[in-house]
Amino acid sequence: MQEMKRSHYCGELRLANAGQTAKLTGWVMRRRDHGGVIFVDLRDKSGITQVVFDPMIDQIAHELANQIRNEFVLYVSGEIRNRGEGATNPNLPTGEIEIAVDQLEILNTAHTPPFLVEDDINVAEEVRLKHRYLDLRRPKMQRALLTRHKAMLACRNYMNEQGFIEVETPILMNSTPEGARDVLVPSRLNHGQFYALPQSPQQFKQILMMSGVDRYFQIPKCFRDEDTRADRQLEFTQIDYEMSFATQDDVIEVTEGLMKRIFEEAGDIPVTVPFNRMSYAEAISRFGSDKPDTRFDMELCDLSDLVANCDFKVFSNVVSNDGQVKGIAVPDGANKFSRRDIDALTDLVAVYQAKGLAWIKVTEEGFDSGIVKFFTEETLNAIAERMKATPGDLMLFVADTPKIVADSLSNLRLHLGRNLDLIDQNRYDFLWVVDFPLFEWNAEENRYEPAHHLFTAPTDDSIPLLDTDPSKAQSQHYDLVINGNEVASGSVRIHQWEIQQKILENLKISPEEVKSRFGYFIEALQYGTPPHAGIAPGLDRLVMLMLGEENIREVIAFPKTQRGACLMTGAPSDVTDFQLAELSIKIDT
Ligand code: AMO
Ligand code: AMP
Repeated sequence: MQEMKRSHYCGELRLANAGQTAKLTGWVMRRRDHGGVIFVDLRDKSGITQVVFDPMIDQIAHELANQIRNEFVLYVSGEIRNRGEGATNPNLPTGEIEIAVDQLEILNTAHTPPFLVEDDINVAEEVRLKHRYLDLRRPKMQRALLTRHKAMLACRNYMNEQGFIEVETPILMNSTPEGARDVLVPSRLNHGQFYALPQSPQQFKQILMMSGVDRYFQIPKCFRDEDTRADRQLEFTQIDYEMSFATQDDVIEVTEGLMKRIFEEAGDIPVTVPFNRMSYAEAISRFGSDKPDTRFDMELCDLSDLVANCDFKVFSNVVSNDGQVKGIAVPDGANKFSRRDIDALTDLVAVYQAKGLAWIKVTEEGFDSGIVKFFTEETLNAIAERMKATPGDLMLFVADTPKIVADSLSNLRLHLGRNLDLIDQNRYDFLWVVDFPLFEWNAEENRYEPAHHLFTAPTDDSIPLLDTDPSKAQSQHYDLVINGNEVASGSVRIHQWEIQQKILENLKISPEEVKSRFGYFIEALQYGTPPHAGIAPGLDRLVMLMLGEENIREVIAFPKTQRGACLMTGAPSDVTDFQLAELSIKIDT
């Protein structure tokens, strides 16, 4: 192998290297036989170089080159040559040169791969995941791995400079109350007992503040047994940190610096700080979502007061039953959308429980819709004026409970924004959403749930409300949103055990359950806990956004499918009867 040491990576060579000798190693991406001269695109992690086997240059190398197939592993040596005018490939950074090979070693052969190992292939994701080692050889995937590495490196450097130290917390632990189902691991030594994998290191990082660590960070794996989606994995990575004697503004400032560093160093994306802030109430009112995509307008417009007394009973009845009527104005939608298109949009909002989607087209001649007869001209003009709708626009309305109105219109807005190309894909809108409510009402279980998690502090003003009207309590919880994606979530924590107790009571967690699940935590709180606050950005989501990907599987080396499976290794899988017996587990089939 000594003699076969490479002199360059495949992607490095340029015209300035012409005349030098290159020794390259890599995989065969493509082989073309052009009348006796064989061309091979040789690939490694850095890129591709064309290597040429010409019998006029080296007979032996050329003969051997006849055996080469895709994904063979080669060592080649030869002169770096100017390809010359007409033969250059402007799509490749190395497109002006090629290697005239005078020595070839086939280091390994390969079976015919199930798909071509190059970008822009049309192949089922299952096949890519099953053969992930081939998939990861593609330049795009190598770039994702590199970006992710740079993001972690930038994070570690930045956090270190800011005085944070990295502390590892256990993977085998008790349940973390983040709201998802736990992934459980049976204990062999403790008959019938289970560990839970961390949903996040939340309790441990707070305990580290109680332990005097002052500034902690970690890039931990977290596990949540919830339905996998485009932005969710069963197993994912956070950048987790916590700060003592810190306020919301302190955490926001550190996080803005971290985002700037990561986006600039790993993604080459300039970031301006500070980021805008918006209250939860404003986000819901204007966008129907606590993670608004602020890259385009088409905001939700409340019309409840204007239609409270109109003859269209669908609207007026909803308003008199404490509901809402809101609308969005689709620019140029009157011309673009047929009845059938509007029916498709009605189906879309139905997914979010909306009972219908009323519409009015604004034309030069006036308002056009089956429902205009129910409104006075004055009301119609007032609606259009409030929605800033002008001739050519389409006004769409949902009347329902505030939650259904928000869910359906926010999703309709996103759908239209994407389909009408209203979103500038090169823009990164960083937005803090702040002033969240402390609790959400769970109607099914008839009890409150924490809007963030149960360690989140109420605002000082809200503490008396814990006894009188918890639904009105506000929290010191903040989310960072980028282009409509929640990328980080955090809060100022409760550091006084009396308040922690009260929150647990509000959540109707029985004293026995508190004792068994959080007894140690409540006890620790009573030994001099400093005020503290923290946050956790999701690493996978950050890298996904930096690379403009729509699915976090694209930025995870070995991701799991929607059913939580690793298609390459076959996990999860059966275990032997002996293993089960040792754990005293019987499978109920
Ligand atoms: P939270 O549960 O909001 O907060 O998670 C923080 C961030 O982690 C990322 N994230 C995920 N990424 C991929 N797949 C998932 N299943 C997934 N779930 C969450 C998101 C999210 O914003 N302990 C608190 C943080 C704190 O309070 O400091 C927590 O885990 O980007
Ligand atoms: P209907 O009176 O049910 O025929 O509905 C007339 C129009 O109002 C149709 O376009 C429906 O889609 C729409 N519509 C019905 N219910 C609602 C609702 N709750 N919100 C908005 N539009 C509705």
